[in-house]
Amino acid sequence: MRFTLLFTLVGLAVRALAQSSAADAYVASESPIAKSGVLANIGPDGSKSQGAKPGIVVASPSTSNPDYLYTWTRDSSLVFKALIDQFTTGEDTSLRNLIDDFTTAEATLQQVSNPSGTVSTGGLGEPKFNIDETAFTGAWGRPQRDGPALRATAIITYANWLLDNNNSTYVVNTLWPIIKLDLDYVASNWNQSTFDLWEEVNSSSFFTTAVQHRALREGATFANKIGQTSVVSGYTTQADNLLCFLQSYWNPSAGYVTANTGGGRSGKDANTLLASIHTFDPAAGCDAATFQPCSDKALSNLKVYVDAFRSIYSINSGIASNAAVATGRYPEDSYQGGNPWYLTTSAVAEQLYDALIVWDQLGGLNVTSTSLAFFQQFSSGVSAGTYASSSSTYQTLTAAIKTFADGFLAINAKYTPSNGGLAEQFSKSDGTPVSAVDLTWSYAAALTSFAARDGKTYASWGAAGLTVPSQCSSGGSGGNTVAVTFNVQATTVFGENIYITGSVDALQNWSPDNALILSAANYPIWSITVNLPASSTIEYKYIRKYNGAVTWESDPNNSITTPSSGSYIQNDTWR
Ligand code: NOJ
Ligand code: NOJ
Repeated sequence: MRFTLLFTLVGLAVRALAQSSAADAYVASESPIAKSGVLANIGPDGSKSQGAKPGIVVASPSTSNPDYLYTWTRDSSLVFKALIDQFTTGEDTSLRNLIDDFTTAEATLQQVSNPSGTVSTGGLGEPKFNIDETAFTGAWGRPQRDGPALRATAIITYANWLLDNNNSTYVVNTLWPIIKLDLDYVASNWNQSTFDLWEEVNSSSFFTTAVQHRALREGATFANKIGQTSVVSGYTTQADNLLCFLQSYWNPSAGYVTANTGGGRSGKDANTLLASIHTFDPAAGCDAATFQPCSDKALSNLKVYVDAFRSIYSINSGIASNAAVATGRYPEDSYQGGNPWYLTTSAVAEQLYDALIVWDQLGGLNVTSTSLAFFQQFSSGVSAGTYASSSSTYQTLTAAIKTFADGFLAINAKYTPSNGGLAEQFSKSDGTPVSAVDLTWSYAAALTSFAARDGKTYASWGAAGLTVPSQCSSGGSGGNTVAVTFNVQATTVFGENIYITGSVDALQNWSPDNALILSAANYPIWSITVNLPASSTIEYKYIRKYNGAVTWESDPNNSITTPSSGSYIQNDTWR
């Protein structure tokens, strides 16, 4: 017995050493490659971005299977946020011209009429453009409403630095109009449906809501700072609504954040970890309302997400159930074979490094009933409580979490080819690179995870001290909403799905075509969570769709009366 324990401890110590030295070596070799990989994909001079206008970020130089020779607002903004953070903290003072090229290019793209509309009729939600700054007119999942928010965040970060460096005229005359277009778009459209960041599901999406909340929050502060006070209360009102809506994605019984309100999947998705790291605010502690990296909800979510990949990729087989594995966008993914991605695997590491930074700042950590399962992976006997940094529990947990985090970088290291190139994905069966080569976002994600490992933090955006409004407005309808979970027991044949529709907008007003698909994750229980008007009597029915045929439940309609606040669970049996 004692020997077994000894072997376990020795085993853990050996793993810790191996993981951290693999991560150390990877950070050292990959950092310069990732940085030049990013720069190579930015026009006009990047070595792999021929034909791109100045400041345009090419998603990847791959021109077929997949063709990524386009510029996405999301990818470009996340990539430039990383560069702007390097510039404003003095890590790389050579980037200023490139950043100016970026803001100029984005100002041009804002004005390009495209299939989503013009600058004033929805065109800002267009996800991607040609690299010569013309519109992409093919079919696509549009609009994607995270882009304007991410772009505003990147440019505000740069503008704040300029303000501190005596350039307020340029900020007010040139950058503010660009930022304002994006923030106005977010403030007036956040509660409209959107394609998610993976460009597949048209509903509401946690990542989009989270980055919109951040953008409006910091946008209000920024506007105030430059004397543009007329927008402040409007942005703040919508930020409050977004913070409210953000809470509704949390699934309390399963302990994770459901990525999208539609889509009919488990909802376990890197979407939610990316949201946490891209809305990290080191001043906000472990606040759960904004899903900070060290919050109990975000940690519970991280465990559920990571565990969803343990058994689906053969390269993960044989790995201990509490050690790092390769992760992908979401377990049901089939795009390009449905493989692990470098940027999602590094996002897990980054969230954990961010958490370690904050615990260190706070001088302790909390284990709650929500985060207990996460922490018990590293010390099975730990119980809910507060552990000061001087305690052995704190030291055991944080050391193990650092090892766990390094393990995710070690996975990426293991499957990075010897030239250091980062594609989009790596094969779930043998780890070789798959899909787009030299994905700019993969390189940027490597850089931000390395910076977090190094303990680097960036400017706060105002997440500290926010409280979720007790009465939450849905924005559009102006009324309060509650999260209603519908569970229906229904046996189906393969290929057949269950949907819901009913008497309110959120249930698609009795439209069988637009009915919401339920998740079969817990078959034969099908379920969905929808935000419905509070204190209302609502009628609904489930329908089945199979090979184009629609079957309605028999009469009469089902009916519920929603509570005035909180959430509600309705259990039914197909009739
Ligand atoms: C291309 C998108 O970029 C990708 O995210 C998506 O998975 C595929 N289309 C399939 O819809
Ligand atoms: C597909 C990804 O799903 C999407 O998020 C990304 O914007 C594009 N590829 C371009 O990298």
